[in-house]
Amino acid sequence: MAVFNQKINRNCHQYAEWDREKIADFLNNRDPDQSRSLFEAADYIRAESVGPEIHLRSLIEFSNYCRQNCNYCGLRSKNTGISRYRMTPEEIVAACREAADCGFKTVVLQSGEDPWYSVSRLREIVREIKKQCDVAVTLSCGEFTDSDYAILKEAGADRYLLKHETANPDLYGSLHPGMSLSRRLKCLEGLHHLGFQVGTGCIVGIPGQSYSDLADDILLFKKLQPEMVGIGPFIPHPDTPLAGYPPGNVETVLRMVALTRLVLPYALIPATTALGALDSGGQESALRAGANVLMVNVTPLKYRKLYEIYPSSDRVFRKDHVLGLRSQAEEFVRSLGREVAIGYGHWNPTK
Ligand code: 5AD
Ligand code: SF4
Repeated sequence: MAVFNQKINRNCHQYAEWDREKIADFLNNRDPDQSRSLFEAADYIRAESVGPEIHLRSLIEFSNYCRQNCNYCGLRSKNTGISRYRMTPEEIVAACREAADCGFKTVVLQSGEDPWYSVSRLREIVREIKKQCDVAVTLSCGEFTDSDYAILKEAGADRYLLKHETANPDLYGSLHPGMSLSRRLKCLEGLHHLGFQVGTGCIVGIPGQSYSDLADDILLFKKLQPEMVGIGPFIPHPDTPLAGYPPGNVETVLRMVALTRLVLPYALIPATTALGALDSGGQESALRAGANVLMVNVTPLKYRKLYEIYPSSDRVFRKDHVLGLRSQAEEFVRSLGREVAIGYGHWNPTK
């Protein structure tokens, strides 16, 4: 066993040293034996650095209004084919209370870039949640100025998710009208300086993306050292300009997850919902290839179906009641021989 571990260990360090070309070549080849040894190495490093625990995060999608117009996303402002909703601050706090009562130690508040949810409204909500519930608060509400982020941190928010989506600046520009990768990276830098635990991530298989672009995503993770990294496949949405394109490749997503674990041993890496939406076994495979977080969508049922960034976003855990969702997720974790984490699940490199 010790010899076996030493061998895997050597193997793992080799991946983390790879340059752009080596990563791109590796992603480009679909040899199943190479996938197997990569996943084994990532699983080993995951076990060694962050252990058997899987963190369950409750996700509340509180508004599907968005002022941005990302070419891949169903919430883009030019999509008139969806009904828009906005939960009230009271509804949001009540949903957080319910999640906390059911055992969740983190609430992730996600929305489009909805100007109605100004930073002062968000501040009041975060304060209220922190007053009423024993939870860590993660925000995922898009781009703000650094002084706005500072207000949210002051109010008690612990973490912020803002995916860079793609490390190719030209591709970023063409997918996100009016936005830029450099602004995105400035936001991430500002968030880090303010003391947020920061999450970034990318979409795999977005039209126009090359394997070298994906290699750059991995190298960007290595450079930014985010605490959390979410990687999901592109899923075409029928009411967007990218409707006719094929979805991202599940195996490539898994390889990206595994490589990310090897460059960031202590990161919190979700088995993304997008992966589960594309392939029913996708989240399980990700959890066996380096991932250690599961997001459970606890948005009130009447709104859940309307948050359609891509089709059928809530296929995995579909119970109506939050308690049911929680037990379903716990059962899933145990069925993998892993443990449900009990703490807040902050990034913790000392474990
Ligand atoms: N396919 C995959 N991921 C998507 N996202 C939005 N639309 C899609 C899509 N069609 C992801 C982006 C964004 C998050 C809100 O959802 O990565 O950061
Ligand atoms: Fe809005 Fe985010 Fe969708 Fe872009 S990806 S349209 S910012 S919700």
